[in-house]
Amino acid sequence: MSLIYNIGILAGIQPKGVPRVEGPAQGQTGILEDAWLRIEDGRTAEFGPMSACPDLTCECDSPDNINAGGGMVIPGFCDSHTHIVYAGSRDAEFLDKINGLSYEEIAARGGGILNSSDLLNRTPEEELYIQSMVRAQEMMAKGTVAMEIKSGYGLCPEGEMKMLRVIDRIRKTIPAAVKSTFLGAHAVGRGYSHEAYVQTVIDMIPEAAKYADFVDVFCDDGFFTVEDTDRILTAAEHLLTPKIHANELAVSGGVQVGVKHGALSVDHLERTTDAEIAALKGTWTMPTMLPGSSFFLGLPYGRAKDYIKADLGVALASDYNPGSSPSGDMRFVMAQGCIKMRLTPVEAFNAVTLNSAYAMGISEHYGSITVGKKAALILTEPGWDLTRMAYQYQTPCIRKVLF
Ligand code: NIG
Ligand code: FE
Repeated sequence: MSLIYNIGILAGIQPKGVPRVEGPAQGQTGILEDAWLRIEDGRTAEFGPMSACPDLTCECDSPDNINAGGGMVIPGFCDSHTHIVYAGSRDAEFLDKINGLSYEEIAARGGGILNSSDLLNRTPEEELYIQSMVRAQEMMAKGTVAMEIKSGYGLCPEGEMKMLRVIDRIRKTIPAAVKSTFLGAHAVGRGYSHEAYVQTVIDMIPEAAKYADFVDVFCDDGFFTVEDTDRILTAAEHLLTPKIHANELAVSGGVQVGVKHGALSVDHLERTTDAEIAALKGTWTMPTMLPGSSFFLGLPYGRAKDYIKADLGVALASDYNPGSSPSGDMRFVMAQGCIKMRLTPVEAFNAVTLNSAYAMGISEHYGSITVGKKAALILTEPGWDLTRMAYQYQTPCIRKVLF
């Protein structure tokens, strides 16, 4: 048991049994000033105002206790979309990009995902694990307490399974929660025809399902069609819940096919029309936007505000990957949510905590300050609040991350 006391601001409080926040509720969160919080068995047991701190004098003497010194305590970030298992980097393509080549043009020249795939298939599993762990540690140091990690750079049965084993090993090693996604359909693997590769992905599903929680398809222009996606998701039914890459490069139909198959989330959505917003109404699917990709690729930012106006909730995630978002910094994500998508700081905060926990199927345990949930928390230096976290997004403010 331990107690965090002298908390300047305790933010992100939600009652029990709120799996996600939608519409006006996305702009609200419970806040308590001058507070304490008690942790038992790694979970939030109780919290309240310092004026009613139980047994303050003797409890505060325990070495397990933390004097927050007026700092803010919030739930840690939940990053529901990453590709942090990759080998090397794509810094050579950075110059092509600066010189004006688009993501599609770089991919068409054999760069992009296929470049990462070649590198990954040449890299021994142990080395891949070591490189990927560095990224997981980096994310945790920046406050991420739960992350989803995708395969998708193997693009052949051996390479994909290697990635899923590495994700599994990371899951078993780090204190953050890890969810694993089989993204065999990320690009057509080298040496396959399109049709043969889709069939190979389908054939991989039973083996992948021994490791992965979710299945993903890059349903977009030049990658996989709605029909491919439909076939893959049909084959994965009862084995893996879908999370779909949709509408990054074009209005792809990925949202609708994802909804049809009960996707837990549809991600990217840089090219959303009103039809996608309508398709998501009344579903359990979480629209998830990845502003880091918009920033890095110069794409439009997702219409997060319009989703909220339509009474939906939105999640934001980093998309940490070597090609379109080489950053797992969730404060940067939050800042872009505010500056580029015009979310309020609280809307952006809920998007990177509770709603992104929902988009990984773990909001029962993560994403808010709620009795019974994991006490996976960020403790900041004094003087910080939710607005300043997004506004002054590059100033270090995290004092401690609890898992
Ligand atoms: O989410 N869009 C597809 N997949 C990744 C990019 C992967 C890469 O370029 O390596 C994304 O942006
Ligand atoms: Fe992605």
